[in-house]
Amino acid sequence: MKVLSGEGPDVREGASEVASGGARSSEEFVRGRGIRLIREDGTAFLDAASGTFNVPLGYDHPEVTNAVMEQLRRMAHASSSLMAGQAKQVLSELLAHAPAHLTAGWMRDITGSTANECAVQVAQKATGKTDILSLFLSHHGQTQFTTAISGNAFRRKGFPESVSPHSVKVPAPYCYRCFYKAKYPGCGMLCVERISDFVEYASSGSVACMLVEPVLGNGGNVVPPPGYFQALNKLCEEKGILLIADEVQTGMGRTGHLFASEALGFKPNIVTLAKGLGGIGIPVAAVLFEGALDVMESHEHSFTSGCNPLALTAASATLKAMTSGHLLANVRRNGIVLGELLGQLATRYPCIGDVRGLGYMWGLEIVRADGSPDVEKTLALIRVAGERHQLVLRGSRYSFGNVVKVRPPLIATQDDLEEIVARLSRALADVG
Ligand SMILES: Cc1ncc(COP(=O)(O)O)c(C=O)c1O
Repeated sequence: MKVLSGEGPDVREGASEVASGGARSSEEFVRGRGIRLIREDGTAFLDAASGTFNVPLGYDHPEVTNAVMEQLRRMAHASSSLMAGQAKQVLSELLAHAPAHLTAGWMRDITGSTANECAVQVAQKATGKTDILSLFLSHHGQTQFTTAISGNAFRRKGFPESVSPHSVKVPAPYCYRCFYKAKYPGCGMLCVERISDFVEYASSGSVACMLVEPVLGNGGNVVPPPGYFQALNKLCEEKGILLIADEVQTGMGRTGHLFASEALGFKPNIVTLAKGLGGIGIPVAAVLFEGALDVMESHEHSFTSGCNPLALTAASATLKAMTSGHLLANVRRNGIVLGELLGQLATRYPCIGDVRGLGYMWGLEIVRADGSPDVEKTLALIRVAGERHQLVLRGSRYSFGNVVKVRPPLIATQDDLEEIVARLSRALADVG
């Protein structure tokens, strides 16, 4: 079967099949139902990765599916210049649920990468400054620009345009393997304090913004320590640097709140959303910002499929599904249970060095007896979980490549979570 170990390898496998015109493999998934992926022969897998973290409502959520189908019958596309009304409507729906200081936005993206590009454009245009701070281990997309400002070199190798003179990366708040070899809380939060040195000595002296993921997703599900974002907010304010929260993974309910920045108690000037915004995997993205940052002209950031009516419809229906019932309250409540269940696994399997997360966004750091990253076991665990226990998990090539991500769709019930952890436990026993 396909090994769902990280984002890079999957893409390459899929691409070669398409390129060779290959027939559908019997091991491929042909259908999705709720939180399950199903093969041609009917074998069902529990998807504990929510697709590519972009299927929060499961594969066939009725309201979102019906809304998109209805829109599809009416019209799949109209030029973005003709869709301004629907885009404005969906944007206002999003803003109505956003933190009160975010009062404007941009609804012409369908990927997280270009939404982040837009956010940086907004920051640069509004401030007249150039540089972009971001974190080691961060992932902000795969266009050449967003690759350039992401915190890992492996995606940049061989692509000279993926390096930006305006990008300054600073150590991440990764307490488990602290860059400064310090210990929270006695560390004085060097990961914030030392940013001033990077601004002083590594930037051009003209820093427009700092881009952060509230929980570093591909970087290993790194949850910053309490107080980190408040200190960052303060530092950015003092230095006139706009704070951008890349909520492409953490937004739209993943943490049990529509916005993780709200859950973590900080105030970014700009927020980007994508992935979960499409509910059942429909591509759509949004950029929300403070009214004073509403500086972009439509010709400055627009695409053929920007304002696509299917995407806008999916976003609107997803937002409604997430805000009208008990979904987010369930994620908050069950997310605690998920964390406890994973914590119990860690007491039984010493290869789990750290369990961290919130809501339905958890990561297990797989280590050797001496605490060093165990990449082989991580990959084996993901493979065995799929092959023997029909459990879809994802890993990451970022960081040390030794984090298994457990991020079920938000519709997963407590029973589903228990089943996921039971299968994970059997896979852990198998890999020893
Ligand atoms: C935090 C974060 N930002 C941005 C992106 C890029 O989004 P997309 O793949 O839709 O361009 C991703 C994708 O994994 C992501 O995880």
